Amino acid sequence: MQRKILVTSALPYANGSIHLGHLVEYIQTDIWVRFQKMRGHECHYVCADDAHGTPIMLRAQNEGITPEQLIENVSKEHQADFAEFKINFDNFYSTHSSENKALASQIYLANRDAGHIATRTISQAYDPEKEMFLPDRFIKGECPKCGAADQYGDNCEACGATYDPTELKNPISAVSGATPITKDSEHHFFKLGDFEQNLKSWTQGGHLQAEVSHKLNEWFESGLQDWDISRDAPYFGFEIPDAPNKFFYVWLDAPIGYLASFKNYCDRSGTDFDEFMKPDSTTEMIHFIGKDIIYFHALFWPAMLQGAGFRLPNSIFAHGFLTVDGKKMSKSRGTFIKARTYLDHLNPEYLRYYFAAKLGSGIDDIDLNLEDFQSRINSDLVGKVVNIASRCAGFISKRFDGKLADTLSEQALFDDFIAQADTIADKMEKREFGHAMRDIMALADKANQYIDEMKPWALAKEQGKDQQVHDICTMGINLFRVLIAYLKPVLPTTATEAEAFLNIEPLQWNAIATPLLNHNISKFKPLMTRIESDKIEAIQHASKETMTTQKPAPTKPDTTTIEPILPEISFDDFAKIDLRIAKIVNAEHVEGADKLLKLTLDIGLAEKQVFAGIKSAYSPEDLIGKQTVMVANLAPRKMRFGLSEGMVLAAGPGGKDLFILNPDAGAQAGMRVK
Ligand code: 2FM
Ligand code: ZN
Repeated sequence: MQRKILVTSALPYANGSIHLGHLVEYIQTDIWVRFQKMRGHECHYVCADDAHGTPIMLRAQNEGITPEQLIENVSKEHQADFAEFKINFDNFYSTHSSENKALASQIYLANRDAGHIATRTISQAYDPEKEMFLPDRFIKGECPKCGAADQYGDNCEACGATYDPTELKNPISAVSGATPITKDSEHHFFKLGDFEQNLKSWTQGGHLQAEVSHKLNEWFESGLQDWDISRDAPYFGFEIPDAPNKFFYVWLDAPIGYLASFKNYCDRSGTDFDEFMKPDSTTEMIHFIGKDIIYFHALFWPAMLQGAGFRLPNSIFAHGFLTVDGKKMSKSRGTFIKARTYLDHLNPEYLRYYFAAKLGSGIDDIDLNLEDFQSRINSDLVGKVVNIASRCAGFISKRFDGKLADTLSEQALFDDFIAQADTIADKMEKREFGHAMRDIMALADKANQYIDEMKPWALAKEQGKDQQVHDICTMGINLFRVLIAYLKPVLPTTATEAEAFLNIEPLQWNAIATPLLNHNISKFKPLMTRIESDKIEAIQHASKETMTTQKPAPTKPDTTTIEPILPEISFDDFAKIDLRIAKIVNAEHVEGADKLLKLTLDIGLAEKQVFAGIKSAYSPEDLIGKQTVMVANLAPRKMRFGLSEGMVLAAGPGGKDLFILNPDAGAQAGMRVK
């Protein structure tokens, strides 16, 4: 039976670039959608930019443009990245749209009329200079627990404490630098508790992964709180219909943006929106999301929909986060890789395949190990799959005029390949892509083994073996065709190129079992090339955040002149400098260097080697065991004596008067300083 499915991926914020972490989800969803379409189902994949909220409003102000201009620019960038990664949205829209405004009002008003909205006055931090309320992340101050400076409003990066922004010591507004005051304002709340019973049964009703349902039980135990859905002006968003100067919180209209994008698509394509949205709809609605936004999608979203008389989602499929080389993506390690940086160097299908090979149906994090990535692509795609075609195609075109034989010489082998179609389909349906990729590669091994054993290249040199060569290569090409069909949702461009080579119509799942016989194929062109290490290095290099190099200090200390102040930098530039308390675990002379000492610095999670020009002021033995402050995220520099991975801060005129030590030796190594 043909299914009708609406599929969404989470909406990316319209204030930053797409990076590989985002792409896990878009690639996962796109593979699933392409698979459904290939199976002949009616599947619509929509998305949009998540365009509202304070960060977008402030970023636009900083750039001197309107929020509308900003989101338009970002949308273009996002769409170009997605297109090159072959994320095949049927519609990519924006939450800042007339459809979304209408739907958000409709859903809000229906909930209000049903009694699910409450209003009450709350006190919040307010920036008196900028005349705006401050979200937690725009308040900074000293941690109330450990005293670390420059901590965000709700948690401390140095000691991990969580607290209320009002507890911060010496708070400042990150927007203007002013000291926030506390101010009252009336807010609108969505009464999530009204839906507790229905949510309890819905969340246990097979719409969520088992581990997610389990997590929700914990949330139910801690009680469902009213959800604050309004924000005061100035705010970039939709004004609440019955509350002038109050706006919907970005997370209220973001998921409604799924429906708005779909509505916009339905109006353009003649699809019946209401058929999908009515409460008893037989269509499916499926959301792919990251595990960090489960609360919004598994509690607020179904409750809002229910309160407004809409259908509920059939499934919410959550996935884990991406790590690179086993760690959180990091700018200093060159592993915070933007989509565009990757595209500048490598074929997007490599990443699609690698993520597919790593993805399962659960919410475990997945790791992009760059070495494994390179060897997996080279061995699986180039060495196994593409190789089958390149080993057989030449004989078919040169000796048989490009025509395949008219029978399959090894029907049993072909049947083995076809027999996997249902198992592979079942795994793809369940999002067990990694298992499906393993099955497909096992078949690719079988095909290569067959060709290795048959040795068409040897037979081709013998008299009277033409028929055998023709049969073997016809088998090889047919096995290749089946593999490409299985891989088509993952490798859409390669599949299109393979279809051109095979001279066939676009492959559909139900056509896989019919072999290509007595059929002319085109000339073979290499479909993929190996990944060389320099490409990966280039990506890492381009992803490393580099600091502007400062003027070198004068070689001779000059106490009579004062260095001019360098050009002004923005707060953002300053915020990029990661200053850390470092414990000097070793210090030694550097042979051949008359100013340098080699320091080994412990900054908690890592040890760094730094060459510091402080020999005039310190002997190594004075330093060991003491603390200093270092710039921990300075790009490493190759020096004549070795790699220097940061800098220590020094003050003083020079010579003997150069001070690097932290007098408070009680600080903890690794602690952030500013
Ligand atoms: O977490 C995020 O990046 C949000 N922009 C996701 C929104 S998904 C949906 F609800 F709109
Ligand atoms: Zn702290």
